[in-house]
Amino acid sequence: MAALPSFSLFLLLLTASQLQAFEFHEATVDSINQAFAAGHLTSRQLVEFYLDQIRRLNPLLRAVIEVSPDALREADRADAERSSGRLRSGGLHGIPVLLKENIGTRGPLNTTAGSFALLGSFVPQDAGVVGRLRRAGAVILGTASLSEWAHFRGDYIPNGWSARGGQGRVTDPCGSSSGSGIAAAANMAAVTLGTETDGSILCPSTLNSVVGIKPTVGLTSRAGVIPISPRQDSVGPICRTVSDAVQVLEVIAGYDARDSATVEAVKYIPKGGYKQFLKIDGLKGKRLGILKDYFNYPLGSVEAKAFEKHFQTMR
Ligand SMILES: *[C@@H]1O[C@H](CO)[C@@H](O)[C@H](O)[C@H]1NC(C)=O
Repeated sequence: MAALPSFSLFLLLLTASQLQAFEFHEATVDSINQAFAAGHLTSRQLVEFYLDQIRRLNPLLRAVIEVSPDALREADRADAERSSGRLRSGGLHGIPVLLKENIGTRGPLNTTAGSFALLGSFVPQDAGVVGRLRRAGAVILGTASLSEWAHFRGDYIPNGWSARGGQGRVTDPCGSSSGSGIAAAANMAAVTLGTETDGSILCPSTLNSVVGIKPTVGLTSRAGVIPISPRQDSVGPICRTVSDAVQVLEVIAGYDARDSATVEAVKYIPKGGYKQFLKIDGLKGKRLGILKDYFNYPLGSVEAKAFEKHFQTMR
């Protein structure tokens, strides 16, 4: 007779876990996809959450320059496709993405690198990485602020400042992908894209405690991205987790006829992509060096405490 109670307990647990409300804060690509698949969440609900976060937080944080007037419509389309069984491959179907504002989109968003000089300019075509995101069914949520002209406006311009976006907050958000870093940290988007010429993904990721990947030049197309140096520019993800960043990289990496550097670089994309290397115990047995000089924060400061917490997590 023991089988009966444990069987009903199993049913009870199953029901309880199915009813669990979706946790919007710190949501990951995996948790979002699970909730989509279980019918607990729609792309529209997710976009509405992030639009609300932006509305509430952006007056202070200044991470976002524009939200897309098409975002809800794109979310509805993603939801409709999903419910009719047409799921796009790549794992970003219905997932809202925020783009650094130097990454071109073909209307209605402006692409200005934060400067008034380009406002109203006509961008004839999506950037290569935006085309890939759209084909994967991602929702373009809006544009993230940046250090204007990706920090090539001039000397002594503060990190995270642009004429159109204002001064991005945390004490020093670093840059130039400041808005992407702040927005990822403050749950203003599911995932974001930044660009790097010299530290512009890695530095804001560090100072906002999020995860950035700076791909090898040419691994992601620069077509349609406001350029600085063809030898160094690269587009990459800024996200809350390593897994999220890898999943975005997998969608945006690849050949683009409009960026000749992709011809060489795509040869190095591993068969089966990058997700296969995501291992929960991937750091086990690894020896990490910590640059104590670089992380030399005042004793008892917020930074020192955050650093100690991350350090213990690694350990
Ligand atoms: C783009 O800039 C124009 C001003 O030139 C503005 O009217 C429009 O609202 C902007 N687009 C978005 C999506 O904010």
